[in-house]
Amino acid sequence: MMYVLGLQGSPRAKGNTNFLIDGLLDHLRAKGAETEKINVRRLRVEPCIGCGYCEEKGICVFADDDMTARIYSMLRRADVVVLAGPVYFYNFPAHIKAVIDRTQALWSRKYRHSLEDPGRPWRKGILLSVGATRGKNLFDGMKLTARYFFDAVGADYTDSIVYHRIEAPGDLTHHPGVADDIQSCAANLDSLLARKKILFACRENACRSQMAAGFARYLAGDRIEALSAGSTPAPRVNPVMQEVMAEKGIDMAYRTLRSIEDAVSGTRPDMIVTMGCGEQCPYIPGVSYVDWDLPDPAGQSIDLMRQVRDEIEKRVRQLMDNQDGSESLSKENS
Ligand SMILES: Cc1cc2nc3c(=O)[nH]c(=O)nc-3n(C[C@H](O)[C@H](O)[C@H](O)COP(=O)(O)O)c2cc1C
Repeated sequence: MMYVLGLQGSPRAKGNTNFLIDGLLDHLRAKGAETEKINVRRLRVEPCIGCGYCEEKGICVFADDDMTARIYSMLRRADVVVLAGPVYFYNFPAHIKAVIDRTQALWSRKYRHSLEDPGRPWRKGILLSVGATRGKNLFDGMKLTARYFFDAVGADYTDSIVYHRIEAPGDLTHHPGVADDIQSCAANLDSLLARKKILFACRENACRSQMAAGFARYLAGDRIEALSAGSTPAPRVNPVMQEVMAEKGIDMAYRTLRSIEDAVSGTRPDMIVTMGCGEQCPYIPGVSYVDWDLPDPAGQSIDLMRQVRDEIEKRVRQLMDNQDGSESLSKENS
């Protein structure tokens, strides 16, 4: 199911930005998307202090605020990121600007550590904004900031909806163009809703299914929705798996681990690929099942993890070829 993350950046909980983002998210939900709206003002996010820690280590020095605990993972999971905020002095309000600045850690992973997020090939970014005045340059700052934010979070800056002369709460509700603008913006996302879904399932959702989904995302672009889950999910991904995927230039940080029940609850996969969890995987009529008999590399040597990684890559390539949804993997190390 297409997952849309909406970052509502106005401090006014019931203002114009909120009206606009609710309109878009409601519309996408009606089309079958899963949506989540974050009122950014309610988050506890430390502003970036420019210490350089993320450039060196690839992670933010602030280890326990909401950005590290939740938002990085949500950004990585998102198929669509909606960045919404009113114009404050030609840029975003402070709360959401803090979130934007903290995505420098993701920028560092890509540009300093040469790690590519597997979601990048299809993730889309949308800017929503409002401002009080009519100046022709009113949204220039917002658009430039959005462009670099979407690059940092690995999204293609797909569309923007912006309105001049919107000031008091409620002003936008009277604007005649909103419904049409939302409809045409949402239409740009139809390809993501129509993707064929493949669920990769293993025991802990920490190694094999994560690697398979990671490779599948690179290979299939926006044609396949690659999900992963486990019969008894571990608390976090296996660090050795992260290390061997990093050797291929693929960034497996900030992954969300899920149970198989959770993964199939709101969506029906077209295919389930099991790896060592066969008997615990629920039978869903009409779904095709494939079993990959691969050893569980958790707790074993890094060499076994590499062998399993390479075998998974080979099988995912074959699977994508058979699905007629493949693209060159040459970008993986570029
Ligand atoms: C601190 C502050 C700065 C603002 N700066 C600008 C500005 O530079 N240009 C402008 O056109 N409107 C500016 N505005 C007006 C807001 O963009 C406008 O009221 C908008 O509709 C608020 O959206 P909201 O209801 O989603 O909060 C500013 C408002 C505030 C409170």
